[in-house]
Amino acid sequence: MPSATPDSLTITQPDDWHVHLRDGEALTVAVAHTAAQFRRAVVMPNLRPPVTTVVIAQDYAKRIQAALHSGAAFDPLMTLYLTDRLDPQEIHRAAATCQSDDGAQVVAVKLYPAGATTNSDAGVTDLRKVYPVLEVMQTLEMPLLVHGEVTSPEIDLFDREAVFIDTQLIPLRRDFPALKIVFEHITTTQAAQYVRDSGDLTAATITAHHLLFNRNAIFTGGIRPHYYCLPVLKRESHRLSLVAAATSGNPRFFLGTDSAPHATHLKEHATGCAGSYTAHAAIEMYAEVFEQADALHRLEAFASFHGPDFYGLARNTGHITIQRTAWQTPVDFAYGQARLTPLRAGEWLPWKLQ
Ligand code: NCD
Ligand code: ZN
Ligand code: ZN
Repeated sequence: MPSATPDSLTITQPDDWHVHLRDGEALTVAVAHTAAQFRRAVVMPNLRPPVTTVVIAQDYAKRIQAALHSGAAFDPLMTLYLTDRLDPQEIHRAAATCQSDDGAQVVAVKLYPAGATTNSDAGVTDLRKVYPVLEVMQTLEMPLLVHGEVTSPEIDLFDREAVFIDTQLIPLRRDFPALKIVFEHITTTQAAQYVRDSGDLTAATITAHHLLFNRNAIFTGGIRPHYYCLPVLKRESHRLSLVAAATSGNPRFFLGTDSAPHATHLKEHATGCAGSYTAHAAIEMYAEVFEQADALHRLEAFASFHGPDFYGLARNTGHITIQRTAWQTPVDFAYGQARLTPLRAGEWLPWKLQ
């Protein structure tokens, strides 16, 4: 049970079930923030080139560990990037990493519909092409993590997640009734309802920014590129559905920040990149949402229990404490030769991780 006074909350150390850590100089910044908050994180494979084999994933995990400041206990949980050509044998190799202490675990496979989001051009062009891979995943109980948006230009940007459910996810589920699926970074009432009404094998991650903001945030007082991410923020009624799902206690909703760093000059640009950076203050932002919903007592399960339970991993044993202490977040961070502007840069947040 979480222990709480009105001004402090101690919970089991949380994990981030969806994060982008990047590579090279960017990795150092991103992993420091993530490891300061989370004991483990599911690391997305959309590097250039993408992480498509166990060898590449485990090499990447070594770079993540090397980028960590010594002493930080942090386990990256690695993922493979699903392409039309992924060899089903690679799923056997990935599953074997979860049975061995040799190298990082490769715990899941990520589906990016081709062209849906940042670095997704190598993604899947037609789900039927990867059915042999999905067969093996279903048998080996390896979760499929889904960026759930259709990519057709004729579909309105704000409808792409809802259309994905009807045209892709429902048929996929029908053809693979025993596949574990995580609907990543859900943004709509339709997605929250779909997951709620599906069985034990369908879960969803929810970001802090989709819980805190609706689409007005992108256009308040001018275009605000740091609020632009994919799937794009939706209208207020959808945000309220996500808050209801996250704070419901339903074990198939859990924390995934989708913290996605891009250099400031590439966000503040004529064609600004999609992705919001929240890793520097993630648990604080979730606490803010849960408190607003009068559900702080449910934060621990959402942040620390539901994720490992769904993945079949042990819960963490350490604890963190957050305190009601207003603090001003940094305006930006050094990011290699560039700068990184987080979401809500320079704003005051009510909760602070100790
Ligand atoms: C992510 C990124 O930048 O890698 N961007 C985003 O807007 N969420 C990719 C993703 O998760 O779709
Ligand atoms: Zn995505
Ligand atoms: Zn993402």
